[in-house]
Amino acid sequence: MSDAKIAIYGLGTMGSALALNMAEKGVKIAVSNRSSDAVPTFLDEAGELAVQIDGFDTLEAMIDALPSPRTILFMIPSTGPMDDMMDHVIPLLSPGDTVIDAGNADFHATRARSARLSEHDLHFVGMGVSGGEEGARTGPSMMVSGTAHSWEQLQPVAEAIAAKFDGVPCVAHLGPDGAGHFVKMVHNGIEYADMQAISEVYGLMRYGAGEAPETIGARFACWNAGPLKSFLTEITAKILTSTDDHTGQPMIDVIVDSAGQKGTGRWTVIEALKLGQSASTIEAAVGARIWSSQRDRRAAGATLLDGPGLLDLPSDEDLEAALMAARILGHAQGFDVMQTASEDYDWALDMGQIARIWRAGCIIRSALLDDISEAYEGDMPERSLMLAPAMRARLADAVPALRRVVGAAVASGYPVPVLSAALAWHDSMRQARGSASMIQAQRDFFGHHGFARLDDAGQHHGSWTR
Ligand code: 6PG
Repeated sequence: MSDAKIAIYGLGTMGSALALNMAEKGVKIAVSNRSSDAVPTFLDEAGELAVQIDGFDTLEAMIDALPSPRTILFMIPSTGPMDDMMDHVIPLLSPGDTVIDAGNADFHATRARSARLSEHDLHFVGMGVSGGEEGARTGPSMMVSGTAHSWEQLQPVAEAIAAKFDGVPCVAHLGPDGAGHFVKMVHNGIEYADMQAISEVYGLMRYGAGEAPETIGARFACWNAGPLKSFLTEITAKILTSTDDHTGQPMIDVIVDSAGQKGTGRWTVIEALKLGQSASTIEAAVGARIWSSQRDRRAAGATLLDGPGLLDLPSDEDLEAALMAARILGHAQGFDVMQTASEDYDWALDMGQIARIWRAGCIIRSALLDDISEAYEGDMPERSLMLAPAMRARLADAVPALRRVVGAAVASGYPVPVLSAALAWHDSMRQARGSASMIQAQRDFFGHHGFARLDDAGQHHGSWTR
């Protein structure tokens, strides 16, 4: 028998890192892996921490040895392999046991899996884990959903291993079924927008103004000491001052400019649209990654289309403020998506709590998230983050700079899709009367779709000149 509090199945990079984190925090754990060779290797690597770990050759042996109710965290691909695992594991478990999927799962799959396990009196927890390998090892941010019963089992372990912000663990039980994976998905969407905005500002300095990576890195390092302080700003500074061992070139200059993606950013955009929201900054970031991967077409375009002109590089202060404005607006769109999902799926997500658990451990951790968590404690017109007094004040300062940066980029022909999407959204949301009356008129003109009038209730049609 094992007296482990929790079991981990899947000793890849993230599973191993989480297991070592738990062992280090004094949590007794059981581990197993599809290929059993990985178990002794892992125990060897664990060194002194191995006393906290019971290793098992098979999942069956591990499940057999654990006391009920069992909590088993799976760190395996959240796609087909997780469904196959469910087929396999359901007969092995007893009522009251919990299965945790700690991967980046599609929240629809998490909902379906929760429903499936509940038919067997079993519990399914979707748990978003952010912070990469280092975060998993030393303190991730975790977004948990599932039943109160599962949370009762998991909470002490999760709080012990989570990143801490001012001593507060960056983990929370956010809601039922798919809530945790949905929030993690939106986290990643915001991550995409923030990374792309940073890349755009880098691109203006590097290719518009021909600055050296090291010079740009110094700017990012400086910005990281101010309001833009964040993990992504910090690593950008470090990236730009890194040198390639093989060539002695700046590391950034030897990397192919074609961005990969595993899908969570794209999912965010798709889900946002299904919810009737437009997360345009995130969409722009996903689109920019797609364009970046079309290298041959870009190479042809570079010779066949008129090239960019000379960039009049905006001031350092403007670039910094533009990034700040884009960061605020990107987050505001992400929070809008979560707010709408919460209402649609009846999750009762607490936006302030989400901001709080993103303040440390996760990839988008930043000084801004601390301000966002405070903003959710105060007045928030229309439940819109961009309208919260603290955000309004910051936008009032930063948006003129965003306008100048986008203006300069557009005037000389450098692409800034996220910065310009952020600005367009800001400008649209401050127009009490916009241009959509024309859309309505056109729809009625060609399709008799009807429109609402300002001076009368109900649906109306126009008297059009044909
Ligand atoms: C995190 C990250 C992580 C994600 C990577 C890569 O929160 O730790 O979001 O979950 O897998 O950032 O994602 P892409 O390959 O889609 O860029």
